[in-house]
Amino acid sequence: MTRTTEPDPVAAVRDYYERSARREADRLSRPADGAVERELHARAFAEHLPPAPARILDNGGGPGTWTRWLARRGHRVTLTDLSPALLDVARERIARDPEPYAGSVAAVMEADARDLSAFPDASFDAQLCLGPLYHLTSGADRERALREARRVLRPGGLLFATVMPRYMRLVSTVLEHGLAAFTSGTADLILDEGRYHDARPGRFTGGYLTRPDDITPLFEDHGFRVRHRLASQGILAWAQPEVAALAQRDPDAYERLLDVAYRTAGDPSIHGMSGHLLIIAERSATPAA
Ligand SMILES: C[S@@+](CC[C@H](N)C(=O)[O-])C[C@H]1O[C@@H](n2cnc3c(N)ncnc32)[C@H](O)[C@@H]1O
Repeated sequence: MTRTTEPDPVAAVRDYYERSARREADRLSRPADGAVERELHARAFAEHLPPAPARILDNGGGPGTWTRWLARRGHRVTLTDLSPALLDVARERIARDPEPYAGSVAAVMEADARDLSAFPDASFDAQLCLGPLYHLTSGADRERALREARRVLRPGGLLFATVMPRYMRLVSTVLEHGLAAFTSGTADLILDEGRYHDARPGRFTGGYLTRPDDITPLFEDHGFRVRHRLASQGILAWAQPEVAALAQRDPDAYERLLDVAYRTAGDPSIHGMSGHLLIIAERSATPAA
C-alpha cells in the first residue's frame, strides 16, 4: 500500500461515488452487504421520526433509497448529495415511483453537506445524514457540516447521522493488505488518529473513524443532544454472509434475529465493533449544550 499526499477529501469522495454509483445504488438491497443495515435503520426511523408529513432533508442521500422510503410514508423529502451519478440514479428511480410518492419529493439537488446555503434556517423537522460525516476527514470540515446540519433544522428537530467506528475498518484493512497494513503505518493511523485513506482509484476513499466515547461530546459541542446511539448492523455486523444465508434457509429465524439485533442495537458494549453507528440527536435551542 503506498502512502501519497491525500487529495481534497470531497473531490475524492465524489470521484469514488461517480465510479461506483451502480454498486452503491444497490448496496442496501444486497443480502450480505447492506440488508441488515436497511432493516435496522428502517426500524429506527419508523420509531423515532416525527409523524408524517414532516419536512425531511436526506443529506448525502445518494441513490435515494431513504428518500423514497420516507416519501412512501407521507413525508416531504429533499434529497441532496455530492455525486451527480448517484443523484441521476435517484431521479430515475423517483420518476418511476407512482404518485403520490414521487410528488412527495420536494427536490433532488447537488449540495455539499458543509454548505447547505440553498436552505434557509430551520427549514426541516428532521434530517438524515448517513455518509457525509465519516467521509469528511478533517475536523474543521466535520464541524462545518454539523453547524450546517443544525442550522437547517428547526429547534427540537432530529438529526439521524451515521459515524464509523475504528476496529472493523482496521480488521478489514489487515485482511485485505496483510503485513503491509502495519509496515505502511496504515493500521496505526486508523487506531491512533481514526484516519483511513486509500488512494487506489475506485476504492473506498477513506474517511474519519470515530471512537464511541467521542460521539456525545462532538454532537453536544455543536448544539445537539444525543438521544440514541444504535449499531447500524447491531450484533450482526461480523456475520452478514451467514445471516443472509439464514434469511434464505429459515426466514422466521432471520426475523427473530433481526428483532434481537434491533432490541440490542443501543447496547454500548457492541458499539466499538460495529460497522456504522446511527446517532439520533435533537437540535438544542442554543448552539452549544
Ligand atoms: C455510503 S453512501 C450512503 C448513501 C445513503 N445516505 C444511504 O444511506 O444509502 C454515502 C453518501 O454520502 C455522500 N457524501 C459524502 N460526503 C458528502 C458531502 N460532503 N456532502 C454531501 N454528500 C456527501 C456520498 O456522495 C454518498 O452518496
